[in-house]
Formats: sequence, structure tokens, C-alpha cells
Amino acid sequence: MQSNGRSRFLRAFVIFTIFLILFLCYYIFTYENSESWMPKVGLFPPKTFINKTTNVPLTTASTGTSAKPWKPPEPYCVAYPNKYNFIINEPQKCQKENVFVILIIPVAPSDTAAREAIRSTWGSERLVGDKIVSLLFLSGLPTSQDGEKLQADLLKESEKYHDLLQSDFWDSYYNLTIKTIVMLEWLSDNCQNAPYAMKVDSDIFLNVKNLVNLLLSAPKQNYMSGLVARGAMVLRNPNSKWYLPETVYAPAQYPPYALGLGYVFSLDLTVKLVEAAQLVKPVYIEDVFLGLCMDHLGISLTDPPDGSLFNVFPVDYNRCRYSKLIATVTRSLTNQVEFWRDLQTPGPYC
Ligand SMILES: *[C@@H]1O[C@H](CO)[C@@H](O)[C@H](O)[C@H]1NC(C)=O
Ligand SMILES: *[C@@H]1O[C@H](CO)[C@@H](O)[C@H](O)[C@H]1NC(C)=O
Repeated sequence: MQSNGRSRFLRAFVIFTIFLILFLCYYIFTYENSESWMPKVGLFPPKTFINKTTNVPLTTASTGTSAKPWKPPEPYCVAYPNKYNFIINEPQKCQKENVFVILIIPVAPSDTAAREAIRSTWGSERLVGDKIVSLLFLSGLPTSQDGEKLQADLLKESEKYHDLLQSDFWDSYYNLTIKTIVMLEWLSDNCQNAPYAMKVDSDIFLNVKNLVNLLLSAPKQNYMSGLVARGAMVLRNPNSKWYLPETVYAPAQYPPYALGLGYVFSLDLTVKLVEAAQLVKPVYIEDVFLGLCMDHLGISLTDPPDGSLFNVFPVDYNRCRYSKLIATVTRSLTNQVEFWRDLQTPGPYC
């Protein structure tokens, strides 16, 4: 009886182990093929990567993956042009502070932790030499069920820090282009006295000192820089997070655009970009949309002086490297905070 039970246990164990291995294989395989970085990767060939994402026949692409294709609000464009209003505003921000560069950080209303992390780290660096750095978080309306509570909390947070902008469109991934246009509108209405602005994602480690140093020698007009993607392929696989069908955008490649992780621009551009935004098809991929607007204006993007200043793949931490870069994606808020703190401690960088 007892040995029978043991062999049954053994058999169950072996079967379980086999399933575990199969599951792990499946997981690793799908992870390797994950597209989370694709449009960014597509830009900087490794060509195999590009082909992997763009040349997969649709029939095979949709089988064997569990990711459901995104059902678009037709036709891959956002609700713009439209007039959006500000519910939370800081119209005096640029005038009051005589700003050199204003950082705009798109966040969801519920991103409290990210805002806290940024305020306690690079967001607290407000002066580099005699140059004033300012910062505003930009969100839309909460879409979740606890929206009312989120909204109440947001108002309280705004009263406390006075660093929030909120506009009246639904805050969602597919509305990021609206967020970018609203940012440009706000800057062109309220910040014309400042020379530069930067859009920074909330998962970014930002070296504020190096940013200011870059801008000190940057052109004052028609200037936009960051990690500039050139010859990026349009993703035609409907399962891709950045799918765009030919009916919306026919060319195989995008014009040059600065990756959304963080791009800087001179403020004279905002008026022109707002105008262009009325005429350019508002595709939902916000950094691509801005590239289309720049292309429409016939203004070219500027590469940063050094290719390692802006990083779309998380850079492993070491003091020397982080003391030289401007922006890098991080893997977590904890990393963002730890890296910043370590960089503040005295001692040689390299
Ligand atoms: C990728 O695709 C292009 C055209 O579809 C082809 O010319 C190129 O050789 C391919 N590259 C690789 C590495 O397969
Ligand atoms: C984007 O925002 C507009 C305006 O609030 C809204 O009508 C639309 O449903 C939103 N789209 C998505 C995909 O959330």
C-alpha cells in the first residue's frame, strides 16, 4: 500500500516536473519574442530584429501567441483636433520662476508613486549653476472605477506641491498623442519666456546637470533632440503594440523622430508644432506623431553630441556611466531612486 502511494507520488512528481519545464520553455520563448521594445529597437538595426517584427506573415503571427490584438477606436487616430481644457493648471509656473528648462512628465492620475519618486530624486534638482529647472506632471482624467477618489487625491496633491497639470481627456495609453498635443498647447500658451522644454517619461533616470549642460550649447530655435530614430520601420503586425495599418500610414518607414523616453526642444517650436498638429493625421503613437509634425514643418531633428546620452534600454548602474549620460530607462522606481542617491554621494565618479 505504502510503496504504491510512493510510486504514485513519484509519477505525479515527474509529470509535474515535465510540465514545469515545458511551461518555462514556452515562457522564455515568448519573452524573447516580446515586442515591448520593438519600435525602438527597429530603429537601430540589428536588422534581424526588424525583420522579426515587420515581416511576419499575419496568418502565422496571430496563431500561437496569447496576446489579443488591440481593438482600435477606428482608425488608429486619436480624438484631435479638439479643444481640451485644464482642470488643474499652473499658468504662472514659467513666469514666476524665470525658467531655463521646464520638464514635463506625462503620468496617469494613479501614478502617485512615480511622482513621489521623481520629486524626491532628480525632480528636486531645481538649480544648475544659475539655470532654473522647473517641473510639471501632466495627466488626463482617471478612467478607473475609483476615479472620484483618485481625482480628490490629485487635487490635494496639487494643493500641496503645485506641480500638476490635468486636462479633460481620458487618460489612457491610446490617448498619449492627445497628452503630447495638450503639453505643446500649454507650453505655447504659458511658457514662451523659457528657452527649452523636455518631455520625460516617468520611468526615466534623468541627469539634470548634464541636461542643462547640453542645452547651454544647443541652438535656440527649431531645435529638437533626444534619441533620434531614423529609418524606423512601420510595424504592420496587428499584434504589435505599435501596429499601424497602411490605410492610416502608407510609407514603410517613419520620418526621423525622437523616442518618447525623453526629448528636448526649444520653445519656439511649440507654436509651430501646435499648428502642424491640426493638419497632420493624429496617429496614436505620440513620438511618431511628433516626428510627422516635424516632417510636415520641414525641420530636421538634431542628434545629441554623443550617442550614449539617451538610452532606451535600461543601463546597468555604475557611477561613471551614470555621471555621463542624460537619460536612461530604468527597470523600476526603486532603481531610479537608488541610482540617483548613489550618484549624490561624494567621491570620484570614474
Ligand atoms: C530583412 O528584410 C529585408 C527586406 O524585407 C531583406 O532585404 C534583408 O536581407 C532582411 N534581413 C535579414 C537579416 O534577414
Ligand atoms: C481619449 O480621450 C477622449 C476625450 O476624453 C475620449 O473621448 C476617448 O474615448 C479616449 N480614448 C481612449 C482610447 O481612451
